[in-house]
Amino acid sequence: MSKILSIETSCDETAVSLLECDGGPGGTCVILGNTLYSQAEKHALFGGVYPSLAKREHQENLVPLTVETMRQAGELKEKSSPKTYDVLNLRDAAFTDSVSAFLSKYETPDIDFIAVTQGPGLEPALWTGITYAEALGKAWQIPVFGIDHMEGHIVSALLTQATERSYHLANPKMPMLSLLISGGHTELILASDWFKYNLVGRTKDDAVGEAFDKVARLLDLSYPGGPEIARIARLARDEGPSVIGKDKTPLTFPRPMAHDTTCDFSFSGLKTAVLYKMKGMTEISEADKQNIAQAFEEAAAATLVMKTRRAMAESSPKTLVVGGGVSANEFIREGLTNLVENEFPKTDLFFPDRTLTGDNAIMVGAAAYLRSYFNKLTAGDLVARGNQRLS
Ligand code: KG4
Ligand code: ZN
Repeated sequence: MSKILSIETSCDETAVSLLECDGGPGGTCVILGNTLYSQAEKHALFGGVYPSLAKREHQENLVPLTVETMRQAGELKEKSSPKTYDVLNLRDAAFTDSVSAFLSKYETPDIDFIAVTQGPGLEPALWTGITYAEALGKAWQIPVFGIDHMEGHIVSALLTQATERSYHLANPKMPMLSLLISGGHTELILASDWFKYNLVGRTKDDAVGEAFDKVARLLDLSYPGGPEIARIARLARDEGPSVIGKDKTPLTFPRPMAHDTTCDFSFSGLKTAVLYKMKGMTEISEADKQNIAQAFEEAAAATLVMKTRRAMAESSPKTLVVGGGVSANEFIREGLTNLVENEFPKTDLFFPDRTLTGDNAIMVGAAAYLRSYFNKLTAGDLVARGNQRLS
């Protein structure tokens, strides 16, 4: 059994969890405490994530979220006589003070180790989580381990809600193919066994979530654009196939890389196709926007399905995992579910629980637990790696 405090600060979500996991793959993760603060609304003003704002928000929110997480877990105990504890400089005076005050006030919680996202992500944001985790680890004399954010997204798909406060951890058959689709990544990764990864394909330009966000901006929808595109695309789909203009001309966008024989993706051409389509129109009604969103979502989904089909045919995985923020998309889920049911019925398919599709600290803690279970945690000084890769 392991009790883990996990911290996620790779992008615009600050998240802290306290998990108690047991039984390895096939076992359970009990959520003793869990908090998440999304900064998305603040970044919406800039139309995307603004790194120095993300860093400042993480600095402000990490201590309050940790206090609340420990309170939920019954681990928040004030010292009977507060002892001043001054942490070394955490690169910001107010942050340093708040961490010092937190460590001075509360007792060391009963946990085995701390897990923190080390990369990939925005480096200033990652560094905030890492320096914070290391300060806690040093004060409490508890080991701190770095976790890969994308591995977290893979593990998030293996968690199924069992009770209000616990998740069942699946024991997937290997090899396991993961389709990781988020704001920064679009890749297919094959695991021959736990933590043995091989890159099968990835985007040559934009990530699929980035394409959703950029097309949303073209359509005047708010950031993050993925859920907004999905919402208005659904309205159009209820009316039938995508059509455009007063004369209701059928609209489809090209499926990028359809004739390419690799498992790589490309999404920037699709975004440009949307841009040119809109530039060519004199008037764009709300119905037109909904139809553009529908046609875009269909092209994006078709591309993901096509490349996943190719990767599955090539590598015959026993399990397909889909993870990352875009895995929340119902239309994409449907396309991938049909692919597996109709063409690869012997493959097990895992999507993350609806509560775990976006960035969160539960996935970081669960990934750390699996690594500890298999003796694959690596100790040592942590460095933020913005471009870290699993393979
Ligand atoms: O994994 P995530 O929360 O953060 C990163 O690690 O990037 O993914 C965020 C991305 C954003 O691009 C967002 O627009 C997209 O996931 N997203 C969606 C949906 N929900 C979130 N894209 C399409 N459909 C959705 N329902
Ligand atoms: Zn993510």
